[in-house]
Amino acid sequence: MNIVASATEAPASHSASMAGLSLAVEGVDLRFGGIHALRNVSFAAAPGQITAVIGPNGAGKTSVFNTISGFYKPAAGRVRLGDKEITQVPVQARAALGLARTFQNIALFHGLSVLENIKLGGHHTMKAGVLSALAYGRATRREEMGLRSEVERKVIDFLEIDHIRHLPVDVLSYGLQKRVELARALAMQPRVLLLDEPVAGMNREETEDMARFILDVQEEWGVTVLLVEHDMGMVMDISSHVVVLNFGEVIASGTPAEVRRHPQVIEAYLGTEAAAPELAPAASDGLAAGKNLAVA
Ligand SMILES: Nc1ncnc2c1ncn2[C@@H]1O[C@H](COP(=O)(O)OP(=O)(O)OP(=O)(O)O)[C@@H](O)[C@H]1O
Ligand SMILES: [Mg+2]
Repeated sequence: MNIVASATEAPASHSASMAGLSLAVEGVDLRFGGIHALRNVSFAAAPGQITAVIGPNGAGKTSVFNTISGFYKPAAGRVRLGDKEITQVPVQARAALGLARTFQNIALFHGLSVLENIKLGGHHTMKAGVLSALAYGRATRREEMGLRSEVERKVIDFLEIDHIRHLPVDVLSYGLQKRVELARALAMQPRVLLLDEPVAGMNREETEDMARFILDVQEEWGVTVLLVEHDMGMVMDISSHVVVLNFGEVIASGTPAEVRRHPQVIEAYLGTEAAAPELAPAASDGLAAGKNLAVA
Protein backbone atom coordinates (compact mmCIF):
# COMPACT_ATOMS: atom_id res chain seq x y z
CA MET A 1 0.00 0.00 0.00
CA ASN A 2 1.56 3.22 -1.00
CA ILE A 3 -0.24 6.52 -0.71
CA VAL A 4 2.79 8.32 -2.13
CA ALA A 5 2.29 6.76 -5.55
CA SER A 6 -1.29 7.98 -5.88
CA ALA A 7 -0.37 11.44 -4.64
CA THR A 8 2.20 11.85 -7.40
CA GLU A 9 -0.48 11.03 -10.00
CA ALA A 10 -2.75 13.70 -8.62
CA PRO A 11 -3.77 17.07 -10.08
CA ALA A 12 -1.51 20.08 -9.59
CA SER A 13 -2.62 20.89 -6.03
CA HIS A 14 -1.63 17.42 -4.83
CA SER A 15 1.38 16.83 -7.00
CA ALA A 16 4.06 18.00 -4.58
CA SER A 17 6.13 15.29 -2.97
CA MET A 18 4.48 13.81 0.11
CA ALA A 19 7.81 12.99 1.74
CA GLY A 20 8.17 13.93 5.39
CA LEU A 21 9.32 17.42 6.29
CA SER A 22 11.66 18.38 9.09
CA LEU A 23 10.11 20.06 12.10
CA ALA A 24 11.99 22.40 14.42
CA VAL A 25 11.01 24.05 17.68
CA GLU A 26 13.39 26.88 18.53
CA GLY A 27 13.57 28.62 21.89
CA VAL A 28 9.85 28.32 22.60
CA ASP A 29 8.56 29.93 25.77
CA LEU A 30 4.94 29.58 26.89
CA ARG A 31 3.15 30.81 30.03
CA PHE A 32 -0.32 30.43 31.46
CA GLY A 33 -0.57 33.12 34.11
CA GLY A 34 1.85 31.99 36.81
CA ILE A 35 2.58 28.64 35.14
CA HIS A 36 5.71 28.60 33.02
CA ALA A 37 4.67 25.67 30.81
CA LEU A 38 7.59 25.77 28.33
CA ARG A 39 11.01 27.28 28.96
CA ASN A 40 13.25 27.93 26.01
CA VAL A 41 12.34 24.59 24.43
CA SER A 42 14.36 23.63 21.34
CA PHE A 43 14.53 20.36 19.44
CA ALA A 44 14.25 19.06 15.91
CA ALA A 45 12.45 16.12 14.34
CA ALA A 46 14.34 14.72 11.35
CA PRO A 47 12.37 14.20 8.14
CA GLY A 48 10.90 10.72 7.75
CA GLN A 49 11.94 9.62 11.25
CA ILE A 50 10.06 8.91 14.47
CA THR A 51 10.99 11.36 17.23
CA ALA A 52 9.49 10.89 20.69
CA VAL A 53 8.81 13.56 23.29
CA ILE A 54 8.62 12.04 26.77
CA GLY A 55 8.45 13.36 30.31
CA PRO A 56 6.44 13.04 33.51
CA ASN A 57 2.81 14.27 33.78
CA GLY A 58 2.59 18.03 33.40
CA ALA A 59 6.08 18.27 31.83
CA GLY A 60 4.73 20.25 28.88
CA LYS A 61 4.44 17.61 26.14
CA THR A 62 0.89 18.47 25.02
CA SER A 63 1.76 22.17 25.28
CA VAL A 64 4.56 21.57 22.77
CA PHE A 65 2.08 19.87 20.42
CA ASN A 66 -0.44 22.69 20.85
CA THR A 67 2.28 25.20 20.04
CA ILE A 68 3.40 23.29 16.95
CA SER A 69 -0.17 22.92 15.68
CA GLY A 70 -0.99 26.57 16.40
CA PHE A 71 -3.54 26.25 19.25
CA TYR A 72 -1.12 28.02 21.62
CA LYS A 73 0.89 31.09 20.69
CA PRO A 74 4.32 31.10 22.33
CA ALA A 75 5.56 34.24 24.08
CA ALA A 76 8.93 33.68 22.42
CA GLY A 77 10.51 31.29 19.95
CA ARG A 78 9.76 29.84 16.54
CA VAL A 79 8.31 26.74 14.90
CA ARG A 80 9.62 25.67 11.49
CA LEU A 81 8.06 23.17 9.13
CA GLY A 82 10.59 22.26 6.44
CA ASP A 83 12.12 25.58 5.38
CA LYS A 84 9.02 27.64 6.37
CA GLU A 85 8.62 29.45 9.64
CA ILE A 86 5.01 28.79 10.75
CA THR A 87 4.93 30.42 14.20
CA GLN A 88 2.24 32.92 13.15
CA VAL A 89 0.43 30.70 10.66
CA PRO A 90 -3.22 29.90 11.64
CA VAL A 91 -4.18 26.31 12.61
CA GLN A 92 -6.06 25.48 9.38
CA ALA A 93 -3.27 26.81 7.20
CA ARG A 94 -0.79 24.57 9.06
CA ALA A 95 -2.91 21.57 8.10
CA ALA A 96 -2.72 22.64 4.48
CA LEU A 97 1.09 22.80 4.80
CA GLY A 98 1.14 19.13 5.82
CA LEU A 99 0.72 19.08 9.59
CA ALA A 100 -1.78 16.65 11.15
CA ARG A 101 -2.32 15.42 14.69
CA THR A 102 -4.24 13.14 16.98
CA PHE A 103 -5.31 14.20 20.46
CA GLN A 104 -4.50 12.90 23.94
CA ASN A 105 -8.24 12.53 24.57
CA ILE A 106 -10.11 11.00 21.65
CA ALA A 107 -11.62 13.78 19.56
CA LEU A 108 -14.00 12.07 17.16
CA PHE A 109 -17.42 13.28 16.04
CA HIS A 110 -19.97 11.27 17.99
CA GLY A 111 -22.95 10.02 16.05
CA LEU A 112 -20.97 10.00 12.81
CA SER A 113 -19.64 6.84 11.19
CA VAL A 114 -16.01 5.85 10.90
CA LEU A 115 -16.00 6.85 7.23
CA GLU A 116 -17.64 10.23 7.92
CA ASN A 117 -15.05 10.95 10.59
CA ILE A 118 -12.23 10.05 8.20
CA LYS A 119 -13.72 12.23 5.45
CA LEU A 120 -13.61 15.21 7.79
CA GLY A 121 -9.84 14.78 7.91
CA GLY A 122 -9.47 15.30 4.19
CA HIS A 123 -11.60 18.41 3.83
CA HIS A 124 -8.78 20.92 4.04
CA THR A 125 -7.23 19.56 0.84
CA MET A 126 -10.39 20.29 -1.18
CA LYS A 127 -10.71 23.54 -3.10
CA ALA A 128 -14.08 24.44 -1.66
CA GLY A 129 -16.15 27.55 -2.43
CA VAL A 130 -17.62 29.51 -5.32
CA LEU A 131 -14.36 31.11 -6.39
CA SER A 132 -12.55 27.81 -6.68
CA ALA A 133 -15.50 26.30 -8.61
CA LEU A 134 -15.17 29.19 -11.08
CA ALA A 135 -11.42 28.87 -11.23
CA TYR A 136 -11.16 25.11 -11.57
CA GLY A 137 -14.49 24.03 -13.01
CA ARG A 138 -16.65 21.03 -12.24
CA ALA A 139 -14.49 18.43 -13.92
CA THR A 140 -11.42 19.27 -11.84
CA ARG A 141 -13.49 19.31 -8.68
CA ARG A 142 -14.96 15.90 -9.53
CA GLU A 143 -11.47 14.59 -10.19
CA GLU A 144 -10.34 15.96 -6.86
CA MET A 145 -13.24 14.31 -5.04
CA GLY A 146 -12.35 11.05 -6.73
CA LEU A 147 -8.79 11.41 -5.53
CA ARG A 148 -9.99 12.09 -2.01
CA SER A 149 -12.10 8.92 -1.97
CA GLU A 150 -9.07 7.03 -3.23
CA VAL A 151 -6.98 8.38 -0.34
CA GLU A 152 -9.73 7.50 2.15
CA ARG A 153 -10.01 3.99 0.75
CA LYS A 154 -6.26 3.47 1.04
CA VAL A 155 -6.16 4.74 4.60
CA ILE A 156 -9.06 2.44 5.55
CA ASP A 157 -7.34 -0.58 3.96
CA PHE A 158 -4.00 0.32 5.49
CA LEU A 159 -5.42 0.55 9.04
CA GLU A 160 -7.59 -2.55 8.52
CA ILE A 161 -10.86 -0.86 9.44
CA ASP A 162 -12.86 -1.64 6.29
CA HIS A 163 -15.28 -3.92 8.18
CA ILE A 164 -16.28 -1.11 10.56
CA ARG A 165 -16.36 1.83 8.17
CA HIS A 166 -20.14 2.30 8.36
CA LEU A 167 -20.42 1.89 12.14
CA PRO A 168 -20.92 4.90 14.39
CA VAL A 169 -17.63 5.58 16.19
CA ASP A 170 -19.42 5.48 19.57
CA VAL A 171 -19.91 1.69 19.44
CA LEU A 172 -16.21 0.96 18.85
CA SER A 173 -13.70 -0.21 21.43
CA TYR A 174 -11.30 2.38 22.75
CA GLY A 175 -8.43 0.90 20.72
CA LEU A 176 -10.41 1.11 17.48
CA GLN A 177 -11.50 4.69 18.20
CA LYS A 178 -7.82 5.63 18.54
CA ARG A 179 -7.18 3.90 15.21
CA VAL A 180 -9.99 5.90 13.56
CA GLU A 181 -8.38 9.08 14.87
CA LEU A 182 -5.13 8.04 13.23
CA ALA A 183 -7.06 7.31 10.03
CA ARG A 184 -8.57 10.79 10.05
CA ALA A 185 -5.12 12.33 10.48
CA LEU A 186 -3.68 10.20 7.65
CA ALA A 187 -6.53 11.19 5.35
CA MET A 188 -5.05 14.69 5.54
CA GLN A 189 -1.99 13.28 3.74
CA PRO A 190 0.35 14.75 6.33
CA ARG A 191 4.04 15.28 5.91
CA VAL A 192 4.45 15.67 9.67
CA LEU A 193 2.19 13.71 12.01
CA LEU A 194 1.86 14.55 15.73
CA LEU A 195 0.58 11.69 17.89
CA ASP A 196 -0.32 12.57 21.48
CA GLU A 197 -0.39 9.34 23.54
CA PRO A 198 -1.64 7.04 20.76
CA VAL A 199 -1.62 3.92 22.97
CA ALA A 200 -2.76 5.37 26.29
CA GLY A 201 -5.37 3.10 27.86
CA MET A 202 -4.80 0.32 25.33
CA ASN A 203 -4.18 -3.31 26.18
CA ARG A 204 -0.99 -5.01 25.06
CA GLU A 205 -2.38 -6.36 21.81
CA GLU A 206 -3.91 -3.02 20.81
CA THR A 207 -0.62 -1.33 21.71
CA GLU A 208 1.40 -3.68 19.53
CA ASP A 209 -1.02 -3.15 16.61
CA MET A 210 -0.79 0.62 16.96
CA ALA A 211 3.02 0.51 17.23
CA ARG A 212 3.16 -1.50 14.00
CA PHE A 213 0.87 0.98 12.21
CA ILE A 214 3.00 3.93 13.35
CA LEU A 215 6.14 2.20 12.10
CA ASP A 216 4.44 1.46 8.78
CA VAL A 217 3.36 5.10 8.43
CA GLN A 218 6.98 6.12 8.82
CA GLU A 219 8.55 3.35 6.76
CA GLU A 220 6.07 3.04 3.89
CA TRP A 221 4.79 6.60 3.61
CA GLY A 222 7.93 8.46 4.68
CA VAL A 223 5.97 10.68 7.07
CA THR A 224 7.83 12.49 9.87
CA VAL A 225 6.32 11.35 13.17
CA LEU A 226 6.47 13.22 16.47
CA LEU A 227 5.23 10.94 19.22
CA VAL A 228 4.24 11.74 22.80
CA GLU A 229 3.82 8.57 24.79
CA HIS A 230 4.16 7.26 28.35
CA ASP A 231 4.60 3.63 27.22
CA MET A 232 8.39 3.53 27.44
CA GLY A 233 8.69 0.07 25.88
CA MET A 234 6.99 1.33 22.75
CA VAL A 235 8.88 4.65 22.69
CA MET A 236 12.24 2.95 23.00
CA ASP A 237 11.38 0.35 20.37
CA ILE A 238 10.11 2.53 17.56
CA SER A 239 11.77 5.96 17.97
CA SER A 240 15.08 6.95 16.46
CA HIS A 241 15.40 10.06 18.63
CA VAL A 242 13.98 10.93 22.04
CA VAL A 243 13.53 14.38 23.61
CA VAL A 244 12.90 14.49 27.36
CA LEU A 245 10.94 17.32 28.98
CA ASN A 246 10.67 18.01 32.69
CA PHE A 247 8.94 21.06 34.21
CA GLY A 248 8.76 22.65 30.75
CA GLU A 249 12.47 22.25 29.98
CA VAL A 250 14.38 19.90 27.69
CA ILE A 251 16.60 17.92 30.07
CA ALA A 252 17.94 15.35 27.60
CA SER A 253 17.88 14.51 23.93
CA GLY A 254 19.45 11.64 21.99
CA THR A 255 18.99 8.06 20.91
CA PRO A 256 16.76 5.86 23.08
CA ALA A 257 19.88 4.18 24.51
CA GLU A 258 21.42 7.55 25.40
CA VAL A 259 18.39 9.03 27.13
CA ARG A 260 17.68 5.84 29.05
CA ARG A 261 21.09 6.09 30.69
CA HIS A 262 20.85 9.83 31.36
CA PRO A 263 20.98 10.49 35.14
CA GLN A 264 18.59 13.48 34.94
CA VAL A 265 16.06 11.39 33.03
CA ILE A 266 16.19 8.60 35.58
CA GLU A 267 15.82 11.17 38.35
CA ALA A 268 12.88 12.88 36.65
CA TYR A 269 11.02 9.60 36.40
CA LEU A 270 11.79 8.20 39.83
CA GLY A 271 12.88 11.17 41.88
CA THR A 272 16.11 9.25 42.46
CA GLU A 273 19.06 8.09 40.39
CA ALA A 274 18.15 4.43 40.90
CA ALA A 275 17.30 2.67 37.62
CA ALA A 276 13.80 3.55 36.46
CA PRO A 277 11.99 0.28 35.69
CA GLU A 278 9.99 1.76 32.82
CA LEU A 279 13.20 2.99 31.21
CA ALA A 280 15.27 -0.14 31.67
CA PRO A 281 15.34 -3.93 31.01
CA ALA A 282 12.63 -5.14 28.62
CA ALA A 283 12.85 -1.99 26.53
CA SER A 284 16.60 -2.42 26.05
CA ASP A 285 16.01 -5.95 24.70
CA GLY A 286 13.72 -4.51 22.06
CA LEU A 287 16.23 -1.86 21.21
CA ALA A 288 19.05 -4.32 20.73
CA ALA A 289 16.96 -5.90 18.00
CA GLY A 290 16.42 -2.55 16.29
CA LYS A 291 12.79 -1.72 15.53
CA ASN A 292 11.51 -4.70 17.39
CA LEU A 293 7.90 -4.49 18.43
CA ALA A 294 8.23 -6.31 21.75
CA VAL A 295 6.43 -3.82 23.94
CA ALA A 296 7.67 -3.73 27.51
N1 LIG B 1 -4.69 25.76 28.51
C1 LIG B 1 -3.99 25.76 29.65
N2 LIG B 1 -4.27 26.64 30.64
C2 LIG B 1 -3.57 26.65 31.79
N3 LIG B 1 -2.55 25.83 32.06
C3 LIG B 1 -2.22 24.92 31.12
C4 LIG B 1 -2.92 24.82 29.87
N4 LIG B 1 -2.37 23.83 29.12
C5 LIG B 1 -1.39 23.33 29.87
N5 LIG B 1 -1.29 23.97 31.06
C6 LIG B 1 -0.33 23.69 32.13
O1 LIG B 1 0.94 23.56 31.53
C7 LIG B 1 1.68 22.51 32.15
C8 LIG B 1 2.04 21.47 31.12
O2 LIG B 1 0.86 20.78 30.74
P1 LIG B 1 0.81 19.75 29.52
O3 LIG B 1 -0.61 19.36 29.33
O4 LIG B 1 1.53 20.32 28.38
O5 LIG B 1 1.64 18.52 30.15
P2 LIG B 1 1.88 17.05 29.57
O6 LIG B 1 3.36 16.83 29.59
O7 LIG B 1 1.17 16.87 28.30
O8 LIG B 1 1.22 16.16 30.72
P3 LIG B 1 0.46 14.73 30.63
O9 LIG B 1 1.53 13.68 30.54
O10 LIG B 1 -0.27 14.66 31.94
O11 LIG B 1 -0.45 14.76 29.46
C9 LIG B 1 0.81 21.98 33.28
O12 LIG B 1 1.16 22.64 34.48
C10 LIG B 1 -0.58 22.35 32.82
O13 LIG B 1 -1.46 22.50 33.93
MG1 LIG C 1 -0.36 15.66 27.67
